[in-house]
Formats: sequence, structure tokens, C-alpha cells
Amino acid sequence: MSEGVATQSVADQEAIKKLFPNTYGMPLIQFVESNETTNFPAVNVGVILSGGQAPGGHNVISGLFDGIKKLNKDSKLYGFILGPGGLINHNYTELTSNIINEYRNTGGFDIIGSGRTKLETTEQFEKGREILKKLNIKAIVIIGGDDSNTNACVLAEYYVAQKYGIQIIGCPKTIDGDLKNEIIETSFGFDTACKVYSEVIGNIQRDCNSARKYWHFIKLMGRSASHIALECALQTQPNICIISEEVEAKNMSLNDIVTSIAQAVVNRSEKGDNFGTILIPEGLVEFIPAMKRLIAELNDFLVANANEFATIEKGNQRKYIISKLSKENADIYASLPEGVARQLTLDRDPHGNVQVSLIETEKLLSEMVANKLAQWKKEGKYDGKFSVQHHFFGYEGRCASPSNYDADYCYSLGYTASVLIANGKTGYMASIRNTTAPAEEWMAGGVPITMLMNMERRHGELKPVIQKALVKLDGAPFKAFAEKREAWAINTEYVYPGPIQYFGPSEVCDQPTKTLQLERGK
Ligand code: FBP
Repeated sequence: MSEGVATQSVADQEAIKKLFPNTYGMPLIQFVESNETTNFPAVNVGVILSGGQAPGGHNVISGLFDGIKKLNKDSKLYGFILGPGGLINHNYTELTSNIINEYRNTGGFDIIGSGRTKLETTEQFEKGREILKKLNIKAIVIIGGDDSNTNACVLAEYYVAQKYGIQIIGCPKTIDGDLKNEIIETSFGFDTACKVYSEVIGNIQRDCNSARKYWHFIKLMGRSASHIALECALQTQPNICIISEEVEAKNMSLNDIVTSIAQAVVNRSEKGDNFGTILIPEGLVEFIPAMKRLIAELNDFLVANANEFATIEKGNQRKYIISKLSKENADIYASLPEGVARQLTLDRDPHGNVQVSLIETEKLLSEMVANKLAQWKKEGKYDGKFSVQHHFFGYEGRCASPSNYDADYCYSLGYTASVLIANGKTGYMASIRNTTAPAEEWMAGGVPITMLMNMERRHGELKPVIQKALVKLDGAPFKAFAEKREAWAINTEYVYPGPIQYFGPSEVCDQPTKTLQLERGK
């Protein structure tokens, strides 16, 4: 094992250091190959799957299981049921080799289930400790996204401070692809999910190019970041792909987006092509600056006035909200279609996020584009046909069988977690680097979770959280897309990737995402 120099958090160093006095600034770790066999005492380890499903979770658990058994055959692995809640409720099961073998290389999180309970109070940490003590568990591996790894970090800090001797290790999971930095190359599940969505987008494009009569508005999961939409665009070459981060950087309004889509529809219709495909990232609405200001005010208001809001009749909620917002935000809120306005006030998830997957952006946009085209028709600026189909791809890809990349990556993450445990580490996330090279050349190690943290407003309060890695507009994946998009908008240059391949030439079966290859200069 080699250790690097002390690390810093990505921002707000002083504040993060103060909140994590025991786990801040730890060095990066890299494991080097060694043939030494050391006798480790048997260790009991707990594992938790947290948040949204992502292909490969079962392989993380398999790798972890094999790793701790290799350290000592008497080691035991306990799975906490249905996410972090299982730790607090003392709901667990021992994962034996028979169980593990049934789940190797399969999709889903059903081996123990997942959940979104937020671990944040001392009471919860103490409840967790009770069961850990009872089962003699020395370490927990939390497999989760940015919020869950934030919780892992808080828990690690607490257990060190209390001198409980319980280690916490995180694993980077989320199909959204937004949990990464220089060392964490990607979050697992992104590869498979994008390949599944790209297969289906390709199928739609072939249908679209066969019938030549529909515009398909396709919304793609990804919560905030547009990595999934961008990767699918690189794989399938649709006519249009909106990137939320660009919308924000260019300070675009909803009307700007609608006008640019309508213009592309007109341009194609002038060539006789009244069909096309549009990819829309799930989180778009939150990135339109005016909408973002509205959502921020709504978030703070609803946290502070949750009880009063609960007493307002459904039919009066819109009027009530308008009466409470600042003038600018009240005007925007009043201009939104009823359905979208309601969705913005619906329950938050336990981390305080608007549930963006409930906002039907694909319908909102197609409706507004249709209105604009109707207006242009009246003014004699457009003479085409505009029929639409809507799609939302998200849940279809989250439990797919892991691609070869995710299967290998996940197994390696799990195995690495066991090595971090064996080395007494806590507050680290398992990391596997150099994954654009063949698997034999991958490098295993650990990243202190505090390195990924900054301070953000949540539920109206400043909190330490892992900073989401959004699409970089000066990054290679976006630049590759921006170079081609004008041609894709007017021509029909669709690519049909077909299903994920597992057996065959490595160039076909083992390639990582285009995003990762471009980011790593491949
Ligand atoms: P994680 O960040 O927990 O991995 O979840 C990702 C995600 O799939 C998002 O893309 C989506 O917005 C959200 O989960 C949907 O949540 P739910 O499964 O609770 O409906």
C-alpha cells in the first residue's frame, strides 16, 4: 500500500475541516500488487445498498464477500435490509456463499434491497452501533451516491470521535454518473444504464426513420447532471440533445429552449423531414436560471412552512403559493402549466431534493413547441406537420444485467473495500483507476470522502455534502458533442447501437462509455 500527501476538500476547506476533525485531510491510497500472505483475524462486515438501483451492485457485494473470505475464511458478511433503514431497525441477514453465488453478475439490488433513509442523527448512529456491537461487526460498506456517501462520511467521523472502532467505507454508485473526480473515474451503473437507454433510443430512431412521421421527445434519468443524456447523444446521434449545464451557463429561459427546438423542427420540415428525436435530461427544469431561483425559494418556503402548507386544500395550493412568493418568482410560478406547478410543490425526497423524475419535462416542452409552431404557421413561417411521441427512460436501465465493464468494475470496488478494511481505514471510498485500459491494468485504492465535499444549502441550512460532478462545458465529451450537433440537427445521422454484448471481441464487449474514454483522452 502506498499513501500520498494530505488531501483537501474540493471547496470550503476550513468549514469541512472543522466538521470532520478526525477524517479530514487523509491521504490518497494506492494498493500495490504483493504476493505476501498475511494472516488476518476473521472480521465481520456489514453492507448497505443505498439510494437508486444501479447495475452491478450485486457484484460489489460479491467482491466484498470474496475479499473478506480471502482475508480469513471465518469472516462473515451481513447485509442490512432495504438500505440504511435496516441498520437503524436492526433488520439484517447473513450473506452466505450460497446466497452470493445466486446473485453474481446479475442486475438489481434485490439481494438485500435498497432505501433512501438518511443517516444523520446521533440517535440513528447509536441505534446502528447497538446492532453492530451485537453482531461484532467491525466495518460497514455503504454502497451509494453522493448523498449516501455524505452520510457514510458523517457516520465515519462520528464513530472515530466516539472511539467505537467501527470503520466505514463507501463505494461510488449511481447511474447518474455525477459522483466522480480525478481519482473516482466514474460511478458504477452509469456504463450499463447508458448502454441500455442508447439501445432503446437507437430502436426508436430506426422506427422514427422508417415511418418518418413523429418527433420523439425522450426524457432521460439523471436527476441533476446531464451526463446520461450527453453519453446517449454521443452513442446515438439524435437530432437534438439538451444539456442542462449549458442552459444554465447561457442563462437560457424556457422560451429560448422552446424556440431553438421549434427552429430545428422547421429546418428539417423544409427538407421534407417531419420527424426527429430530442433527448431531454431529467433535471432540466432546475437548471433554467429563473426556474432555479423559483425552486430555491419554494424549497426554503416549504421547509419552513410545511405544517401550514399541509392544511391548504389542493385546489387552493397554487393561489396560496403565489401569495407567498417574491414577485419575480410568483410571476413565473403563475405562468407554469398546472401540472408542472403542482409537481414543484410535491414532497421532497429525504435529502430535500425536488423529485425531478416526477416533472414531465418532455410533455411540457412538446406542448410549448407545438404552440410556437402553430403561431409560426399562422404567420406563414412554417408549413410542416408536427406529431409527437413521449418517452421517459430511467427505471428500465437501473436494474439491467451489468455490462462487462460494470461487472468487473463493481467486483473490483467490492474487493478493494475489503482491502481498505483490512488496512484499518475509515472514511474512505473505494476507488479503481485506469479503467479505460484492460482490467489487468486497473489500479485499486482509496479516496478520503472529505476530499469530495463542500458546503451546500439543504432544507434551508448550510450542510457538508459531496459536490455533484456536473457536465463540464470545457470537457472533452461536451466538446465532441458540440462539434457535431449542428449536422445531427439538420441531417439524419442516427446510430443504432443495439443491445449490450457480453461475449465476443473485446473492442465490442468491454468498451467503457464514450464519456469516460473522451475524459481520459482515449
Ligand atoms: P441515486 O443518486 O440514489 O443513485 O439515484 C439516481 C436516480 O436513479 C435518479 O436518476 C432519479 O432521479 C432518482 O434516482 C429516482 O429516484 P427513485 O428511485 O426514488 O424514484
